[in-house]
Amino acid sequence: MREGRLQAMAGPLLAWYDENKRDLPWRGTGDPYRVWVSEIMLQQTRVAAVMPYYQRWMEELPTVEALAAVDEERLMKLWQGLGYYSRARNLQRAARMIVEEYRGRFPDRYEDLLRLPGVGDYTAGAIASIAFSRPVPAVDGNVLRLAARVADIEEDIMDGRVRQMFRRLMEQAMPTNRPGDFNQAMMDLGSAVCLPNSPPLCGQCPLAALCEAKRLGRQGELPVRRKKARRRREEMTVYLLLREGRVALRRREGRGLLAGLWEFPHVPGALAEAQAGGPVAAWGLTALDWRRKLEARHIFTHVEWHMTGYLLTVSGDCPALTWADQEALDAMAVPSAFGKFLDQATEYLSGQQQING
Ligand code: ADE
Repeated sequence: MREGRLQAMAGPLLAWYDENKRDLPWRGTGDPYRVWVSEIMLQQTRVAAVMPYYQRWMEELPTVEALAAVDEERLMKLWQGLGYYSRARNLQRAARMIVEEYRGRFPDRYEDLLRLPGVGDYTAGAIASIAFSRPVPAVDGNVLRLAARVADIEEDIMDGRVRQMFRRLMEQAMPTNRPGDFNQAMMDLGSAVCLPNSPPLCGQCPLAALCEAKRLGRQGELPVRRKKARRRREEMTVYLLLREGRVALRRREGRGLLAGLWEFPHVPGALAEAQAGGPVAAWGLTALDWRRKLEARHIFTHVEWHMTGYLLTVSGDCPALTWADQEALDAMAVPSAFGKFLDQATEYLSGQQQING
């Protein structure tokens, strides 16, 4: 490890940033609300995917007060497709806390930011440095990779203590006059030049002359991360139940994955066609016409859903189900995990004359 290399980074890094920084809509605003929302959206999600969501969000919810007041259904709809919905709910909880406890003034100290729901080390550092020019590091995956390479750090970046060490090293390396630019320069250089999954573009890197990994030819070996735990696999059978131009949905309960969003009814296990009628009868419905079988898969961080789907027309009712026509469906937040079924439902609802006619 040659941590001293990090001390020499700021000059060339900021010069590079001044020439090459991405023109992103939350940059240069100095508005902590904008910085915060963008940082939460950018957790787990790429800049290009975030952009339309961010624009739409700011048009509809331009202030922390607007976010605190918006109803949940609309909030979930604005987030639909971004995934990890607890992020949206935490944004609203935090907005309410800012309105109530801080009388609408965004907290500007790292320690206070950390108290906001959904705000961890990284995000608190990003807001403190970008919006309030406080010299606090913001260590994300890009920063870890870049710093591990420049200083030839071989410790496991998945280990919390190692991350704390990186935070301390970055704290020492950052200039006090431009902390937000320094952090964002690391992010931009990490995502555009010091690439994660293909060879880094060292020929374009302002830090190449300092970089210990480059000198040793071991850019590809760094950073070191221990193997991830295997994802759990869950089989389930999903029902697209059609009745008189409407499709059945229900609300997900509890506090876990995707809680509060709308979903198509489903049961555990991959049921073959011969068994798939059981749950339909148990819901008190009569299956009239089995139309299609579908397969879909969705990968979350810790679990994979393997879904077998059936599309059928039914009669009868069940108190847990809500019957939505196309217009109602458009206003409901349905997680992307059910995207394939949502497309099918839309196709059938728009052509439902053929079904009932
Ligand atoms: N990724 C997360 N936050 C970012 C930011 N402020 N600039 C560039 N990339 C980012």
